Amino acid sequence: MRRKKKNKSSDSNSTAMVNGKTFHTGQKVARKHCARFKVVACGRRWGKTELGKTVILEHAIWRGQRTWWLAPTFMMASQVWRDLKAAVRDIEGIKISEAERRIDSPRGGMIAVRSSHHPDYLRGEGLDLAVLDEAAFMEARVWQEIVRPMLTTTRGRALFLSTPFGRNWFWDLYRLGMDDEEPDWMAFHFTSASNELIAPEELESIRRQTSDHVWRSEYLAEFSDDQGQVFRGIRAAVRELEIGAPQPGHRYVAGVDWGRSVDYTAIAIIDATTRQLVALDRFNRVGWSLQRGRLKALTERWGVQVIWAEANSMGEPNIEALQREGLPVRSFVTTSASKSPLIESLALAIERGYLGLLDHPVLLGELASFSLERLPGGGYRYGARPGHHDDTVMATALAWYAVEHSGALIEFA
Ligand SMILES: Nc1ncnc2c1ncn2[C@@H]1O[C@H](COP(=O)(O)OP(=O)(O)OP(=O)(O)O)[C@@H](O)[C@H]1O
Ligand SMILES: [Mg+2]
Repeated sequence: MRRKKKNKSSDSNSTAMVNGKTFHTGQKVARKHCARFKVVACGRRWGKTELGKTVILEHAIWRGQRTWWLAPTFMMASQVWRDLKAAVRDIEGIKISEAERRIDSPRGGMIAVRSSHHPDYLRGEGLDLAVLDEAAFMEARVWQEIVRPMLTTTRGRALFLSTPFGRNWFWDLYRLGMDDEEPDWMAFHFTSASNELIAPEELESIRRQTSDHVWRSEYLAEFSDDQGQVFRGIRAAVRELEIGAPQPGHRYVAGVDWGRSVDYTAIAIIDATTRQLVALDRFNRVGWSLQRGRLKALTERWGVQVIWAEANSMGEPNIEALQREGLPVRSFVTTSASKSPLIESLALAIERGYLGLLDHPVLLGELASFSLERLPGGGYRYGARPGHHDDTVMATALAWYAVEHSGALIEFA
């Protein structure tokens, strides 16, 4: 598809944003283009929301137009609502309705700030402009069935601002914007680095600590066709294990994920010296004391120096029981905040070949179906796809955590 060349300017030439800052180059390009429907795909922190706020105020307050701001969650909408109220509070004749989250200007303009979380509650009259912030994280029908019809009689405009989320409906709109045969549409693409206000060292530091797929989609704003897949290069990371027994002088560490009613308890053992997964055991429907016995036998056979075990639910009493028996077990409390770096670090280790895997069909299957869900608020949720398990992934991630936190090894040595 050819990139459109035309870049006619809209009639607004002000260089200042609503917060008094000056637009950076990419923001100027996207703002000035006169297309009716603008699809702006950009990396995190590029300045999407700031651009959108200035554009909506220009249309509603200065041109007296009827506008909507849409965000995927109530929280994101609330933040913008606060900023917009602050921006207009000194303008004479402005009316602010907290109940409706609506600002009315003396020239007949209007801004309504809405969350698209429950699309069925979204109703309204004709609009001159809709800004859809983080559009890729909304349901397609928000645009197709609700917003698009509201722009029909008014020949209203729309501004879509988002980081990509795979090749979903936002990608379809982006392609319309790239198509010369669609004169109403224009697409823009900017990486986070194109915001010259972000220090390159800062981005470089994020890149080093982020797995490839998150980096590509969130900071390079690439539309990937396998959005959500967390582990890459799984097959290439499988190494044949020559000797299935502990080697003298090697250090071994383990990770344990406790099974709940429908899950399995999984134990993974990594040779920290060669960075190779050497044993993986999983079982369910056996009593806790039997499970602890199996864990004890396996870790003693490998001479494991430290075991990181999940502390949630049944974890803590099991950990205490094992510690009473003298096993070097440590608690890992899994929360969404602690799970992300745990998984990201395992993904990085597999992708870059730092960790060798076993040719274990359950583990390889669980790794392949493990997915990342981007929450509309900007965070992530990692886990098995519905109908799949992730216990061997979690056990391996905890064992890899033990390798990386070798300070713990010294303490137990
Ligand atoms: N042109 C600019 N000049 C100075 N600061 C800016 C500019 N554009 C954005 N910022 C600031 O950079 C930060 C990120 O901007 P903004 O929230 O608009 O980015 P975003 O792309 O929406 O980010 P996210 O991906 O987190 O939603 C904010 O603190 C904002 O005030
Ligand atoms: Mg934003």
